Amino acid sequence: MPKKPSLPAEGIVPKLSVSAKLPKKTEAIVIPVFQGEDGPEIAATGVLGSKGEVAVLEALTTLGATGAAQEVTKLAGIAGSEVPVIIAVGLGDSEDFDAETLRRSAGVSARALKGFGKVASTLGIFGLHDAIVGAALGAYTYRGQKTAKLDGAKAPVKEIVFVSDKKDELESAQILVDSVVLARNLVNTASSHLYPEVYADFIASLAEEFGIEAEILDEKALAKGKFGGLLAVGGGSARKPRLLRLSYQSKKSAPSVALVGKGITFDTGGISLKPGAKMDDMISDMGGSAAAIAATIAAARLGLKVNVTATIPMAENMPDGESYRPGDVITHYGGKTSEILNTDAEGRLVLADAIVRASEDKPDFLIEMATLTGAQLVALGGRTSGVMGSDDFRDHVAEVGRTVGEPAWAMPFIEELKEEMTSDVADLRNIGKTRFGGMMQAGYYLSQFVGEDIQWVHMDIAGPAYNTAGAYGYVSKRGTGAPVRTVVAVLESLAEGQFPAQD
Ligand code: BES
Ligand code: ZN
Ligand code: ZN
Repeated sequence: MPKKPSLPAEGIVPKLSVSAKLPKKTEAIVIPVFQGEDGPEIAATGVLGSKGEVAVLEALTTLGATGAAQEVTKLAGIAGSEVPVIIAVGLGDSEDFDAETLRRSAGVSARALKGFGKVASTLGIFGLHDAIVGAALGAYTYRGQKTAKLDGAKAPVKEIVFVSDKKDELESAQILVDSVVLARNLVNTASSHLYPEVYADFIASLAEEFGIEAEILDEKALAKGKFGGLLAVGGGSARKPRLLRLSYQSKKSAPSVALVGKGITFDTGGISLKPGAKMDDMISDMGGSAAAIAATIAAARLGLKVNVTATIPMAENMPDGESYRPGDVITHYGGKTSEILNTDAEGRLVLADAIVRASEDKPDFLIEMATLTGAQLVALGGRTSGVMGSDDFRDHVAEVGRTVGEPAWAMPFIEELKEEMTSDVADLRNIGKTRFGGMMQAGYYLSQFVGEDIQWVHMDIAGPAYNTAGAYGYVSKRGTGAPVRTVVAVLESLAEGQFPAQD
């Protein structure tokens, strides 16, 4: 038997479970506190008893705790309770409370549990799904291939038992956590260990475990199929490009959705070489592909009533004697041509091929996601995705993103973009004539490859996919897993007929 492909390292995530009663031998318990007008207010969770609640409230007041959102206060256990440590986490003013506040507070409290083994959490009384997702994603810790053992006190919490009687909500929360973790792990894996051939093989074998069909086109099949964008971008690397296709079919009458994700396993810029500083961040240039793959797996595991086909172009953008050059004209899959003016605008070239291929299946919806432009970071900052495409679907996706806590904002296709992207010698230029509105130039370029009658969106996730600052809320450093939760929630909304809105 050939060895099953695997990643060299995975992030550490706590074991998650749900129990109706406070389990024995918990090392700590997480309890919620609201911020009242006259100081902290303990929410009745039933696990401390009324005397216990009074004692905890007194201790919190003495320590000056306020109950502000994401405030964490550690207390020694109280008389009458067997739990040695109490972690009080603020949920803010109860009138402003929402699911995102819960996820964030769950995330920071989970990170404050370093060194603990088994702990209990009562945060689930305000929303079990969000408490689980926030805590698990907040605790996620990636150590890559460090060989030193983690010092006990610094090790992430091992197990969280959520006290709740809604046991049946655990499974879907665990599936969502697993998918975000998969996307983070893929993004966090160094390009030395994740390049097109191994990436495609790993995902194909993983997908098949979940009943998803997988097909890989290698460089020979790509040449035969005339995937000119993918071949041009991948040409400069000794590690040859791949096109991965995944298919999860629920039932014929269900809406069909094409997912497309940029899978540049490393982006040096190619002949239009990037500067050296921070070039290592470009291990994240496959973040869109990771999210598209992870969302497909989540849809299959959740059994969503949608038919999903993911089309994932994978290539490494390197400078070399076989690289494509500025001035080249390339012919994409389907026949459209691009004039190359900068080999660092490579994502759109591989996506063009993939979007044409995905459009051939005539899906109802197409969601494409990519770490596409530095201009996204300039326009919207590091946390907010730019969403472009069909007006109503674009607005829906951006709204869903904000609801699940993956900030997203709709961007327009303004009139001058057509002229910006017009070439004298090909159907399109691969960069604009000016540097203004670069995020929309890229989105407009992609729009030219989308098939007719398909409602589509492009999500530029250059910033949101990779967190180069520190962890915050339930967002870890490095790979964030964005926009997996947005795409899964959009698929759910399509499965349930919530979009387009019925009147
Ligand atoms: N992968 C980059 C975009 C990027 C930048 C992602 C920063 C994450 C963080 C993309 O391939 C790229 O290099 N885009 C160029 C386009 C330009 C040449 C028109 C850019 O944004 O500078
Ligand atoms: Zn680039
Ligand atoms: Zn790139």
